[in-house]
Amino acid sequence: MANFRPDVVVNCAAWTDVDAAEGSPEACVAVNADAVRVLAASCNELNATLVQVSTDYVYGVRENHVTPYSENDVAGPVNVYGASKLAGEEAASQARKHLTIRTSGLYAANDHGPVRGRNFADTMLCLAADKRLVKIVNDQHCTPSFIPHVADGILNLLHNKSNGLFHVVNNGSTTWYEFAHELFQTAGIDMTTQGITTDEYPTAAPRPRFSLLNTNKFVASTGYSLPHWRTGIAEYIESMKPYLLRMERVA
Ligand SMILES: NC(=O)c1ccc[n+]([C@@H]2O[C@H](COP(=O)([O-])OP(=O)(O)OC[C@H]3O[C@@H](n4cnc5c(N)ncnc54)[C@H](OP(=O)(O)O)[C@@H]3O)[C@@H](O)[C@H]2O)c1
Repeated sequence: MANFRPDVVVNCAAWTDVDAAEGSPEACVAVNADAVRVLAASCNELNATLVQVSTDYVYGVRENHVTPYSENDVAGPVNVYGASKLAGEEAASQARKHLTIRTSGLYAANDHGPVRGRNFADTMLCLAADKRLVKIVNDQHCTPSFIPHVADGILNLLHNKSNGLFHVVNNGSTTWYEFAHELFQTAGIDMTTQGITTDEYPTAAPRPRFSLLNTNKFVASTGYSLPHWRTGIAEYIESMKPYLLRMERVA
């Protein structure tokens, strides 16, 4: 930091294995909160802006909540990862100039094709290589967001010299089941999708049933809203076309 003297530090580093975090809470907090406190102090010394990428998983504890959360709503996570990211937000707020960006279900394409486990969209494409039926959770409401759109949103906030906490996600709401269905359709992949409940897909860490984020504050600050989540899928599939064509040839 001292050698590079950045104007802006975008902290994308995090412990992101939500299930493994349940068994290693201290290590998770070290990366997601303690390290952010060090970054914030360093940003203050250099008068740099700290951009902390956070998550919709800071919500979820209010099980009956059914309207998109705004930045003023009290957070309450349901798992260790969410709690560590909430502590990371508090740490980031110690930077004089900081932007904390809550986003959700991040995915993006890359030149080498999808990698299983890298993100949900990649994992779905990988499953299509050897499966004709996938069962996907249909009762977790969120807005998976295309990373280039979120990155644009962050740049816009920085250009506007915005400060504080912002929700930055693609427009609209969906479930993982509906998202996967749209993904396969857009890619022209013949896949049967079956919606299941969270209870039918047990994981080490509980997930929020509802983590939709209201982006009115972002829209008011930047004058635009991110594209719809279906547009994110369309752009992702367009970028993955070379891989999808190779897959067709193998089939
Ligand atoms: N993925 C999502 O759906 C999602 C949703 C909402 C918010 N977010 C947030 O978005 C940000 C990026 O997430 P992502 O999914 O892109 O994460 P990711 O693919 O898991 O990448 C995390 C990065 O953090 C680095 N990292 C982990 N521990 C580190 C340590 N101790 N020291 C230095 N670097 C370390 C990793 O480096 P190595 O590769 O070298 O291990 C990796 O490059 C995170 O803040 C995450 O909480 C993610």
